[in-house]
Amino acid sequence: MITTTHNRETISMQSLKNDLLLKALRGEKVSRPPVWMMRQAGRYLPEYQELRAKYDFFTRVQTPELAAAITIQPVDIIDTDAAILFSDILVVPQAMGLTVEMIEGRGPVLPKTIKSFEDVNALVVEEAASQLQYVYNAIKVTKQQLNNRVPLIGFAGAPWTLFCYMVEGKGSKTWDKAKTLCYTQPELAHALLQKITDVTIAYLKQQIVAGADCVQLFDSWAGVWDKQDFLTYAHPYNKQIVEAVKNDAPFTLFAKGVWHSLVEMQDTGANALGLDWANTAAFARGLTGNNITLQGNYDPAKLMQSPEKITKDVHQMINDFGVQRYIVNLGHGITPQIPVSHARAFIDAVKSWKE
Ligand code: CP3
Repeated sequence: MITTTHNRETISMQSLKNDLLLKALRGEKVSRPPVWMMRQAGRYLPEYQELRAKYDFFTRVQTPELAAAITIQPVDIIDTDAAILFSDILVVPQAMGLTVEMIEGRGPVLPKTIKSFEDVNALVVEEAASQLQYVYNAIKVTKQQLNNRVPLIGFAGAPWTLFCYMVEGKGSKTWDKAKTLCYTQPELAHALLQKITDVTIAYLKQQIVAGADCVQLFDSWAGVWDKQDFLTYAHPYNKQIVEAVKNDAPFTLFAKGVWHSLVEMQDTGANALGLDWANTAAFARGLTGNNITLQGNYDPAKLMQSPEKITKDVHQMINDFGVQRYIVNLGHGITPQIPVSHARAFIDAVKSWKE
């Protein structure tokens, strides 16, 4: 099994025209850092808006040709060094049997939430990853259409972040209901987190078999915990996933807001850690002993500044993080109001950087 995966990676690495991202993930020497942007396929692109006007969100996600077209848009339009599959983290709760609706102006809504052991026991676990065949098909179509231009990133939501939506049923600033479930019914909380973990491991492995060149785990709401609870309700599950998947393909762990546990995250054996802007390069490099790849960490709101200032900031970020073991990115997803020319300036700045 390991030999097969290794062969597949070797073949795709040899034939990729731009393999900067995979090199940076493996800690190999690069001439400049690779660059991509979280949520790079999305509403700031007029070409995305065109497809958005014609097809609803889950039709776009579930139709491989549409998902592939949206995935490739930022590679064509702003020339990123990687593509990230157009999908959503909430396809996992869907495959586990919950209804997820994407409501205009409100975001995701889950009408039925998890409240009891009965609800947890009713979730689909073993067959869930095979319900997501449309994702693997989207990966295959995207790989074909990318024609080895850049690597394709697969992804999943971290168990704690998915737990938040499965328990609260909609977005929240504090996730206090999700936290309350952990504090009042810890056994129930751990049972749910473990089920999500098991599904996520199978799901990421199948994305890699379908052709994803590397994967990223998004723990978007990990920052609501203090260190002790992060290490109780979020990190142990992320660790299980990294350990189970990292030998299949390079792995990036992004836990937003978690500056306090970089060392624990590094110890999972992940190839890279994603950082948000609450961190500094010096702090993160210091804590991790400068021997893991770091990704980040520009505040997406700063993309509203002039292209000249964005260019200056990106050059400064490369000086601060260093050229090696670094992936230029945002500290969270790009937002809809960003002008395409500013997104493009962010990418171009990396390519014009000179030592
Ligand atoms: O990065 C990419 O370009 C790949 C596609 C991608 C999407 N969602 C598409 C999307 C990825 C990696 C995600 C991950 C995701 N989804 C996360 C983790 C990353 C993060 O930003 O924290 C989370 C928390 C979600 C859940 C989710 N999906 C929310 C809260 C929303 C609504 C808010 C928003 O940004 O619009 C979505 C919808 C969604 N997922 C959109 C896109 C392009 C917008 C849908 C639309 O209106 O067309």
